[in-house]
Amino acid sequence: MMEKHLGRGLCLGSVLILLLGGTGWSASLNGPALYAKECASCHSKDGRGSLEDTTLTVPLPDFTDCSSNSSASTSDWNDVITNGGAFMGLSDQMPSFGEVLSPEEIRTVITYVRNFCQEEGWPSGDLNFHKTLFTSKAFPENEAVLKQEFLKGKKGTKEWTTTLSHEQRLGARGEWELSLPYVVKETREKTTAGPGDLSLEYKHVLSTHTEKRALTAAALEVVFPSGDHDRGLGDGTFKFEPSFLSAIALHQFVLQNQIQAVLPLDDDQADRQMRYRLAGSYPTSLLRHDLVPSLEVEFRHNLQGESNEVLLLTPQLYTGLRFRGHVALRIGAQIPITGTDPFHYRIGAALVWEYLEGGLWW
Ligand code: HEC
Repeated sequence: MMEKHLGRGLCLGSVLILLLGGTGWSASLNGPALYAKECASCHSKDGRGSLEDTTLTVPLPDFTDCSSNSSASTSDWNDVITNGGAFMGLSDQMPSFGEVLSPEEIRTVITYVRNFCQEEGWPSGDLNFHKTLFTSKAFPENEAVLKQEFLKGKKGTKEWTTTLSHEQRLGARGEWELSLPYVVKETREKTTAGPGDLSLEYKHVLSTHTEKRALTAAALEVVFPSGDHDRGLGDGTFKFEPSFLSAIALHQFVLQNQIQAVLPLDDDQADRQMRYRLAGSYPTSLLRHDLVPSLEVEFRHNLQGESNEVLLLTPQLYTGLRFRGHVALRIGAQIPITGTDPFHYRIGAALVWEYLEGGLWW
């Protein structure tokens, strides 16, 4: 009789152990409990980073700082937590949890860490899609961009434009940008060189839809007549360029859109124009440094005088130069398809550096 009971008990016991083992008992831990158990020893309970642990020699991220908490994408954080800091070019003092936590638990703990940012309105880093050469992006950034363009014009003219831009976030949703161009123009007769028209832009995110992976923004760019107009290095008038920007991800495919008006103060100096840009990108993987092929389509027409419709196509390729993708290169060629061709072709290359994410060489 005793043996029978014992047998049944053992049997029940092993079924229970099997069940618990099979479903992973720890899977029932919620975000706060997972964080307290695995992360708080270093990142501290309040998410600001522990000051007690003196064995750590690298500064810890402050998860309550919304600007850095919202800028990383979920897939980047997933990689850091699963594979450890070293995998993403960070310190190996951030351990890997791929063997300790299930993918589900890692998702749960990421959601918990995101909530350390208590302010409303910060757009999720998951909406930070790759920038293309000519279509402005809707997501605000802290970055420096060095852009080189070569334009082969009609009648043997050539033009090299080097533009240095600085973009900086302002609050949860804003960004300002200053662009300084340097122009070299070559005609059959002569070559002129000097600073072009500098521009200042403010951009503001209007709406975000994190689940649908979409966002919209508005921007206003003011172009100053700083280039020497008489030598052909600038338009010689102020220009106001308001834009509506939007982006949406459909599975892996990303569509970005810009509708822009170009409104010169003096219509005789520059064309009053509408520009419609659409960029489609297909990231080959979720890793930020991987290749991304894109195609931009731009349609322009003048709002006064001759309509002068132009259709431009720009196939291009993006590649990260550093593992985390905070230094990246984009290169492409713009080709006029229809219209009274304004030029033969334009080659563009942009070196993008997200300076808050890391140095140029690490
Ligand atoms: C042994 C200490 C330690 C533990 C435990 C630890 N971390 Fe870290 N973590 C670090 C350090 C150090 C860094 C900074 C690495 C760097 O900047 O080079 C870091 C960085 C990170 C980052 C990158 C933040 C960024 O800048 O993008 C995330 C995300 C993160 N940890 C999440 C977690 C989570 C979630 C847990 C628990 C599952 C955890 N960490 C456990 C030490 C730790």
